[in-house]
Amino acid sequence: MRLLTLLLALAATALTAVAGADPTAPATAAPAPHDARQPAPAEPVVLDDAADPADEAAAWAAGDCARCHVVPGHEEEPRTRNCATCHQWIRNISASPAARERAMQVFPLWERYERNTRSYLPVPSLAAAMARLDPAWVEGYLADPHDLRPGLPEGMPRFALTAAQRRVLAAAFVGDAYDGPPTPKPTTDNLERGERLFQERGCVACHAFGGRNPVAGNPQSPDLAWTRDRMTPDMAFAWIENPQAVSPHATMPNLGLLAAEALAVRDYILLADLQWNPAPPPPSLPAPTTDPVTWAQVEERVFGRICVHCHMNPDLNEGRAGPGNAGGFGWPATGIELQTYEGVVAASARIPDSLARRAHEAARDAVGPGVEPASIQRPERPGMPLGLPPLSDDDVALVLGWIAQGMPR
Ligand code: HEC
Ligand code: HEC
Ligand code: HEC
Ligand code: HEC
Repeated sequence: MRLLTLLLALAATALTAVAGADPTAPATAAPAPHDARQPAPAEPVVLDDAADPADEAAAWAAGDCARCHVVPGHEEEPRTRNCATCHQWIRNISASPAARERAMQVFPLWERYERNTRSYLPVPSLAAAMARLDPAWVEGYLADPHDLRPGLPEGMPRFALTAAQRRVLAAAFVGDAYDGPPTPKPTTDNLERGERLFQERGCVACHAFGGRNPVAGNPQSPDLAWTRDRMTPDMAFAWIENPQAVSPHATMPNLGLLAAEALAVRDYILLADLQWNPAPPPPSLPAPTTDPVTWAQVEERVFGRICVHCHMNPDLNEGRAGPGNAGGFGWPATGIELQTYEGVVAASARIPDSLARRAHEAARDAVGPGVEPASIQRPERPGMPLGLPPLSDDDVALVLGWIAQGMPR
């Protein structure tokens, strides 16, 4: 713990030098690992139903969307606050031998940083999503997110946004603005040909498709099981025929399908039986371990590895507290820091329940390959760690055991 704290302080002052040595990294920011949120207002920003589009900016800000996504038309969050670009930046430095050498001199734990920054490296392009997705689907997804990309362990966090804010945000997605000639209605006559093309033209290499093709070769490719809810048939056709014509930000390659082929594979995607595997019943928490557990163990495996990234102690981070402490993603401040022994002890009464809620949400947010996300009654507060996979049973048993043993140092 002391080492981590030292590093956080070090990082704040020294990363500029490292960045300056690396041609791929802009030399302006001096980030500390993790985030840099100043205390936020205690309540989410509320828009009334008649909100005009000028309030769109407030809604994007309330949801902290730009901390993970590039939001078209809005300023990028600086790297000190940006979950996606800071993690990516660490990877970029590591890809350049000279910059990496420099970074390793400045940070004794650089190799650990490289190993430990996994989440939010690939985040879907909102520009490409805005061009193709149906706004009505987006509105529902923001209220009740679910796992869309089985190869991506992290998902969307749950937000505390008002219905009006969700509507304003969804309106930025103009999925049905298809301007080609109308396409034929999807037909089951195309299923067989569509399935063959799906296999032969390489779709199957990147995309999961419900229980029919549970494994996604490329973590950034959405499970096509959801496309029937997310896109109009016209837009699905246009996208499959040439993604770059729909959005220059599309990362899916143009596979050069003829129009008739694109139609057949579209109908397969929109109409094939999904052959889902049913969701397992919601898990209950494991029993606390009875082996002796120390603070060092829970710090290393849980609090310092996962929770601290959103629940920082501002005294150790030049006033930055993180969204789990100072408020973020629309949620008000909690005052919970999970960086120090004292902070974890102070929050300990609330921790087991927060882990149990995440295990419950996993039935929707972190499903296994080919498993249909279950409909669940969401607990009022989101489970922890927010938007990330639930802790393993072993880690939960460790935390519960440590708390039950009176939280020895
Ligand atoms: C200024 C750089 C920076 C920013 C901004 C940042 N992180 Fe990190 N993050 C790191 C570093 C460095 C590590 C590895 C730390 C370690 O191993 O001690 C890390 C690790 C993590 C981890 C554990 C490993 C993983 O990737 O799953 C999580 C979770 C995490 N960060 C979440 C976030 C979230 C959520 C945000 C945005 C609210 C964020 N981070 C913003 C630098 C940053
Ligand atoms: C902590 C990081 C994070 C934040 C903050 C965040 N997102 Fe996301 N978002 C993700 C990830 C990761 C995915 C991919 C989820 C999946 O595939 O299961 C995603 C997916 C999406 C998608 C679906 C796009 C697609 O191509 O499938 C939309 C729409 C979206 N986000 C909108 C938003 C909006 C609007 C906000 C702000 C209210 C927001 N996001 C904030 C991480 C984030
Ligand atoms: C190299 C990997 C790759 C291949 C091959 C590929 N895709 Fe994609 N596809 C993607 C990615 C990544 C996206 C997400 C949007 C983006 O950023 O381009 C996507 C998005 C889509 C979407 C939008 C789905 C949604 O719900 O948002 C459809 C439909 C689609 N692909 C169909 C196909 C079909 C049909 C084929 C084969 C002809 C195919 N894809 C081949 C990577 C791939
Ligand atoms: C991606 C950011 C993020 C991560 C990672 C995270 N939290 Fe949180 N946490 C939040 C946010 C945002 C809130 C406020 C939500 C609310 O008010 O219910 C919160 C609230 C909490 C609360 C108070 C609400 C309650 O349930 O009583 C507890 C306890 C908590 N987190 C524990 C944890 C633990 C333990 C971990 C690690 C296993 C963790 N958090 C990881 C963002 C995060």
